[in-house]
Amino acid sequence: MAALTLALSKGRILQDCLPLLAAAGLAPRGDTERLLRLPTEDPEVELLVIRPTDVPTYVEYGAADLGVVGKDILLEHGGGALYEPLDLGLARCRLAVATRRDSPLVGGGRGEATRRLRVATKYPEVTRRHFAARDEQVEIIKLYGSMELAPLVGLADLIVDLVATGNTLRANGLVELETIAESSARLVVNKAAMKMKHAAVAGLLARLARVRAHG
Ligand code: PRP
Repeated sequence: MAALTLALSKGRILQDCLPLLAAAGLAPRGDTERLLRLPTEDPEVELLVIRPTDVPTYVEYGAADLGVVGKDILLEHGGGALYEPLDLGLARCRLAVATRRDSPLVGGGRGEATRRLRVATKYPEVTRRHFAARDEQVEIIKLYGSMELAPLVGLADLIVDLVATGNTLRANGLVELETIAESSARLVVNKAAMKMKHAAVAGLLARLARVRAHG
């Protein structure tokens, strides 16, 4: 059995990580599109390929010793139970508040709205904290994807979503009002593994730190 298990977020982070893993001598041995658990070229390290939102849970419970996950997910999950020693510099984006280009909210006004603003998001905790910090009462509507649609069909006044290039917002007639947080892929470590497998974890950290994306 491999000494260390590294959980990777399926999707964009996994794709962006592959060159970095190869440069660190950890190229997967198998089909990362299909396999959920696969060895790497280093017999001491195996990979798990799982949904991004599940990575913190696997690492927190020690089912994986380490994980690679977006800061957006860590902010939503509450990353306190994990160590976050390394910013891999991949999958850079930001969590932002956006609305329709023609919304009165763009100029800082509230228009006719006397009710609480409705905010559609995949990130209810981040959203709750953001608006609570400014004493603004909002109604949060949890969605699982395609947030950009919500303001267009009157489901929400605002969205909180990831923005990378801004192309998706523009294509849907939305504009960014403010940035809540910057995000990128982070390496997280189980707290017990950091102690009990210290040499192995530190070695892996050093290898990934050497090849991480800079800039
Ligand atoms: C994310 C996000 C936006 C888009 C932003 O979605 O939810 O829709 O990327 O990128 P852009 O600013 O470069 O256009 P993703 O493709 O990760 O899929 P999702 O809708 O399943 O979250």
